[in-house]
Amino acid sequence: MSQDAELFIQQLLAQMTLEEKIGQLHQVSPGGDFDLNLLQTGQVGSLFNADGALTGQGFSKSSSAEQINHLQQQALSARLHIPLIFGRDVIHGFRTIFPIPLAQAASFNPELAEQAAAATAREASATGIRWTFAPMLDIARDPRWGRVAEGNGEDPYLGAQMAAALVRGYQGDDLSAPDRIVACAKHYVGYGTAEGGRDYEGGEVSEPTLRDVYLPPFQAAVQAGVGTLMSAFIDLNGIPATANHHLLTEILRGEWGFDGFVVSDWESIKELIAHGVAEDEAHAARLALHAGVDMDMVSAVYHRTLADSLAKGLLPIEEVDQAVLRILRIKQRAGLFDQPFTDPQREKQDLLRPEARQLAREFARQSIVLLKNQANLLPLQGIRRLLVTGPFLRARAELFGTWTPDGRGEDVTPLDEGLRQHTPRTTELWFADSTDMALHMAHHSDAILLLLGEHPVRSGENGNVSDLRLPPGQSEFLAALAELGKPIVLVIFAGRPLALEKEIPLANAVLYTWHPGIEGAAALAEILFGEAAPSGRLPITFPRRTGQVPIYYNHKNSGRPVGSSDLFITRYSDLLPRPLFPFGYGLTYTQFSYNDLRLSSSTLRKQLQVQCTLTNCGTRPGSEVVQLYLHDRVGSLTRPVRELKGFQRVTLQPGESQIVTFTLTEEQLAFTRSDGSHGAEPGWFNVWVAPDSSSGLHAEFRYEG
Ligand code: NOJ
Repeated sequence: MSQDAELFIQQLLAQMTLEEKIGQLHQVSPGGDFDLNLLQTGQVGSLFNADGALTGQGFSKSSSAEQINHLQQQALSARLHIPLIFGRDVIHGFRTIFPIPLAQAASFNPELAEQAAAATAREASATGIRWTFAPMLDIARDPRWGRVAEGNGEDPYLGAQMAAALVRGYQGDDLSAPDRIVACAKHYVGYGTAEGGRDYEGGEVSEPTLRDVYLPPFQAAVQAGVGTLMSAFIDLNGIPATANHHLLTEILRGEWGFDGFVVSDWESIKELIAHGVAEDEAHAARLALHAGVDMDMVSAVYHRTLADSLAKGLLPIEEVDQAVLRILRIKQRAGLFDQPFTDPQREKQDLLRPEARQLAREFARQSIVLLKNQANLLPLQGIRRLLVTGPFLRARAELFGTWTPDGRGEDVTPLDEGLRQHTPRTTELWFADSTDMALHMAHHSDAILLLLGEHPVRSGENGNVSDLRLPPGQSEFLAALAELGKPIVLVIFAGRPLALEKEIPLANAVLYTWHPGIEGAAALAEILFGEAAPSGRLPITFPRRTGQVPIYYNHKNSGRPVGSSDLFITRYSDLLPRPLFPFGYGLTYTQFSYNDLRLSSSTLRKQLQVQCTLTNCGTRPGSEVVQLYLHDRVGSLTRPVRELKGFQRVTLQPGESQIVTFTLTEEQLAFTRSDGSHGAEPGWFNVWVAPDSSSGLHAEFRYEG
């Protein structure tokens, strides 16, 4: 931060009354009865879902630059003219909806995520929004938890790469550029540990696992310059994240040097009472502020209680001042003091631009995962009559996925229409809207395209399930069609890994599209008919059955690991001790071979090169995500069986080869050691260059320390 900017906010603070200071900490999501006087007297620092503030006052309901400018005008009429920052849940697109975040992670393509976030920032900022409550960076090992859809899956390395890319995309190099928005890394932290996959439930995690698994994406976001973080709802290890001084102050500010601000989650400060760590609102407010939560989202307990706590001497004014400064700093950095208004013309030009839609299509193509392709059924060729059926046949907004308050169904080409547009003339499409019609028509078709999965409302916030199988009836439908012996292409739309143990063998080919966004229909059709090839990889392990979760690739070995003996090993009596599909898995329309793994040395001193030759040995062009995994054989604490440490997307023509090189550094061997320090330990390491987390070429090296 420049000295001038710091001086400016210090001087502003010096002029503020207590009421104005507390005002900056108060965020409101207004309902129809919102009192504009609160803005005119400087008692609100931020609005989100701002459209609600103007209902009943002659403005239309949608959030627009004019409405937001009008509200900003009210705030600027206050004594010190401090601008509001307008927030919103802009999670995976604004009007141009990109694939859900879990699908974005499946692309293993952070550059594309950065471009999508930049396109999203442009759209959202055109309507006056300057702050998004994204990216969601929660590592999730339990797909019962609905919010697995909103994050980057189970891996801290992939999560960190995506985190940095998304922050760069939203914020750009210059946060004050009018087409950028402030990002908010959420939910800090450990939210994905919610017991049983039940949202809002507590979780327990050891400090080393917290530091090595759950924190890295947040640290990457902070290193990328993220302006804000959101504290999680969760009670982690007995201290709700919203009252956790260790996380919010010691680690975030102390160790990482974060100088932006932290907003609570929706009413999570007030919820400290229900958690049982605060006896009343005033106590809850003091706990949160002291822990390091600067802005109160919606619960209004800062607004209602802080002045009284100060008057009673229960709270030092320095804690309030510090929070105000952090908020002013980000407002200043976002250019709001110089440019508080949004040019209303931009709204007409910047929404749904063709290049944004193009990007959404490319992102969907790269995030769809091919799980099975028996006898190269895909891409579909030479099929005369293709029966298309299943609950997603006419899907439009259902393609969006969770958290898309600004997406509109009418902007989407419906799935049936998208298929029609991309089907070769030699193939006739037959659509069946009901199961009995489908069974009747299937007899006369050459192949079946079955579109199954879960509706977006079944995933996302509190979209938890106790059973990871397909929703009722769908599996039976597949089984009935499979009886007819026609080739089946199964397409699954979902916000999570589903347990498809029974379904995969019944289909000849399986594509996992997640919720693919506004261009999902076209992207799917292109892949089905070979205009594009699938290249997504699983960013999360797929269990065989629900009872297997939590299941993740980077687990520790037990004392009796799989393969060590026959009987008394880590397993269930009724299930194979393996996932259905491992992390990192995904096929394409060609085959790749991995050969000639070489290390630049058998000892890692400062760094080490690992390389192998990748060859497209099939007959079609294709993209492979080459993955680098490590295993530290002996540690002062038990080490994961594998950890992803690098990946590269490589596109090769048939017959083409490329040498793929990774550089391993000491830092990539580091972990949280038994004494709590961070660093690498001398000894032997296994290394793999691999197409997924369960296979690959293997070598070993020593680290001397
Ligand atoms: C609650 C959710 O947990 C959070 O992700 C979201 O940003 C806020 N509500 C605001 O809508």
